[in-house]
Amino acid sequence: MVVKALPERTNGTSPANSASVLLKQIESEPALTHARLVLLKVLADRSGLFLSLTDSNRLSVVNPVDGRSYSLPMTLFSEYSEGGVDWNEVDGVLASLDLQCYSKDAFVMGERIYKGNTSSIYHCQLGDKECAAKVFMVDELAPEKVASCMRELYLMSEICSPPDVQGIVKYLGYSVRGVHPRRVVILMDLADEPLTAVVSAFANRGLLLSSDVACLRTIFIDILQGLSYLHSSYVIHRDLKCANILVTSSASDAVVGSQLHAELADFGLAKKLSPYKEWANKPAGSTRWMAPEVTESGRATWRSDIWSFGMTLLEALTGQLPYHGVVVLDVPKTISLRILPSFKWIPAESELDVLQTLQETVLSCLQFDPLQRPTADELLRRLLQCD
Ligand SMILES: Nc1ncnc2c1ncn2[C@@H]1O[C@H](COP(=O)(O)OP(=O)(O)O)[C@@H](O)[C@H]1O
Ligand SMILES: [Mg+2]
Repeated sequence: MVVKALPERTNGTSPANSASVLLKQIESEPALTHARLVLLKVLADRSGLFLSLTDSNRLSVVNPVDGRSYSLPMTLFSEYSEGGVDWNEVDGVLASLDLQCYSKDAFVMGERIYKGNTSSIYHCQLGDKECAAKVFMVDELAPEKVASCMRELYLMSEICSPPDVQGIVKYLGYSVRGVHPRRVVILMDLADEPLTAVVSAFANRGLLLSSDVACLRTIFIDILQGLSYLHSSYVIHRDLKCANILVTSSASDAVVGSQLHAELADFGLAKKLSPYKEWANKPAGSTRWMAPEVTESGRATWRSDIWSFGMTLLEALTGQLPYHGVVVLDVPKTISLRILPSFKWIPAESELDVLQTLQETVLSCLQFDPLQRPTADELLRRLLQCD
């Protein structure tokens, strides 16, 4: 485990989050409990530091500001590996984040929209506002999942709040409810439907109308704006796919291209990097959308998000999952053989430059050499230019 400390940020970073305080905490820590480790990770993320696992026996902490390094035995983590979550400490972690916390009376839960393995999404009423609530039954989760729930909460609070950023679902606040069951609730703007629903409608019709193509262009322009913002903030999403894109129509009667907007959601695997370390070490993501370098070495960068973006656009333009004819367990092997997915575009009612640009965009993202992939900004310019 290597914990690297970067120069302290001066803008708005409180001393409690600074690199030196963090290093002192680690130095003086007799035994790191799980919640403590989560706290360190969250603080590390918050101060622009990072942690990564490279060695199974020692935890080395390097401070490039003064060049000092610390080396601690991994036995410090014994409590972590044995699991067990100390809820007082977790509450302390949440409190230390200084986020907008709503009391349980501030919002009313409505019907469930979606049920996943670790969380469910509900309609919810926050004052006058209808919103969505992502609910984690944290006392039923393994400690690592609790950690990732808290990281998702922290990341959303950091990156999903600016009002002027397009293409990212808006975070509204969080709440903790109950003891048994204990729930962590992330509140966010409510969208109409996931992009998978829009794409299924197109695929079932078997024909892309000009209005569908305009709608897809709008959606992917929004997503590229969101992605460009994430990448410029040293955040990689790591789970781009149609199911993690939310679509909302501002028109009440019909889905019209210009009135649609789309947002990137599900920051459960998102990772905050830094100018000093622009990659994540552990393989994570959804296999069919994962870049070859991630399935092979676990090394994810903004370039692997671009591969997944290409797969997401392919999914939208074909109405099929990437590598749809291959069982999911065999997908990594297929990718390692440098085989691209076979696909058939949904036919269009007429030849359109926009559609051709979207199709070419897919191919420019699906380059096995990550260095050949375009940036989100380049892709955005391309889609804005075609009309
Ligand atoms: N803000 C939201 N508004 C409307 N539906 C949402 C919202 N967030 C998520 N959903 C629905 O829930 C599904 C799963 O959400 P997600 O955050 O991706 O959960 P998971 O981490 O389990 O994948 C989405 O595909 C979408 O259908
Ligand atoms: Mg998801």
